[in-house]
Amino acid sequence: MTDSEGEVVRIEEVVKDFRPGFGLRRKRVLHGISFSVQRGEIFGFVGPNGAGKTTTLKLLMGLIRATSGKASILGHDVGESAFRREIGFLPENAYFYDFLTGREILDFYARLSGVPSARRKERVGTLLDWVGLSHAADMRIRTYSKGMAQRVGIAQALVHDPSVVFLDEPMSGLDPIGRKEIRDLILRLRAEGKTVFMNTHILSDVEMVCDRVAIIVEGRIRYEGRIEDFLAEGDGRCDLVLSGVAPEAIQELEEHHGAELRGHGDRVELSVKEKDVSQVLRRVLGQGADVLSVTPHRVSLESIFMDAVREDEEAGK
Ligand SMILES: Nc1ncnc2c1ncn2[C@@H]1O[C@H](COP(=O)(O)OP(=O)(O)OP(=O)(O)O)[C@@H](O)[C@H]1O
Ligand SMILES: [Mg+2]
Repeated sequence: MTDSEGEVVRIEEVVKDFRPGFGLRRKRVLHGISFSVQRGEIFGFVGPNGAGKTTTLKLLMGLIRATSGKASILGHDVGESAFRREIGFLPENAYFYDFLTGREILDFYARLSGVPSARRKERVGTLLDWVGLSHAADMRIRTYSKGMAQRVGIAQALVHDPSVVFLDEPMSGLDPIGRKEIRDLILRLRAEGKTVFMNTHILSDVEMVCDRVAIIVEGRIRYEGRIEDFLAEGDGRCDLVLSGVAPEAIQELEEHHGAELRGHGDRVELSVKEKDVSQVLRRVLGQGADVLSVTPHRVSLESIFMDAVREDEEAGK
């Protein structure tokens, strides 16, 4: 869906200036950014530290105002308040009263967001179960691991069953297991038809869960695209891993195919043009070598990200 009906978040030419302190010069943090997020999408807002991700999210949450430009959620200007029950928010470095238990804190937020008392207990129980914390529901948050605290944060963002969820760095500070748990929760949100907007700089997580990304560098959007579009693209080369290759054959590969070789004992890794793969394989197999793997190069989010940062550095010279 790309029509305005399916558009959940829309940001147009948004500029944000901060005045770092009394008497200090204004600093432009967002330089007229524009992008949109479609219904049902997991959208990754990606950028290095200080790029402007949290600032953009605060603007969307109505916590700060844009210097100029327009931002809307579900067709409502972000300055309005009536649509807020449709959105959930996990702030960066979410702070909880850590002397409370997971159940108590969720009950507190459910109360704040107007969940009727008759339904609150059940809602809190469902959420604790949903984020996998039923076993720790009555432990103080102080005793939780970072991953558990982050899961309570996500449960808090879902307490009023919003249709759009905004997460600021949901995987930060988590180990690989914690990150996987959060990724799985995010994928479950999409399966339930929710739209997810997440700020992050952990590129592998973005590749695994997001449908689309925008890359922001120094307050400017440098890239926007669907993950599956760029993951399907290659650079026309292929990595081969071989064993038992005769030394003459190695020399021939370098000379005739411009192969870039890396060797580890009997194991040889080389990169060749995709169109030469069959010929190279026929030749080395004919000489008694074994083929361990053949992997086409794919464009990674990391290479797009590094290009975007480099482009920005060059533009700033
Ligand atoms: N209240 C403020 N006053 C002045 N400058 C600010 C303020 N808030 C943010 N900034 C500046 O705006 C820039 C963008 O900050 P922001 O927090 O949006 O970055 P970010 O992309 O979320 O980074 P990170 O990945 O570290 O969370 C930074 O240079 C920051 O110093
Ligand atoms: Mg941030």
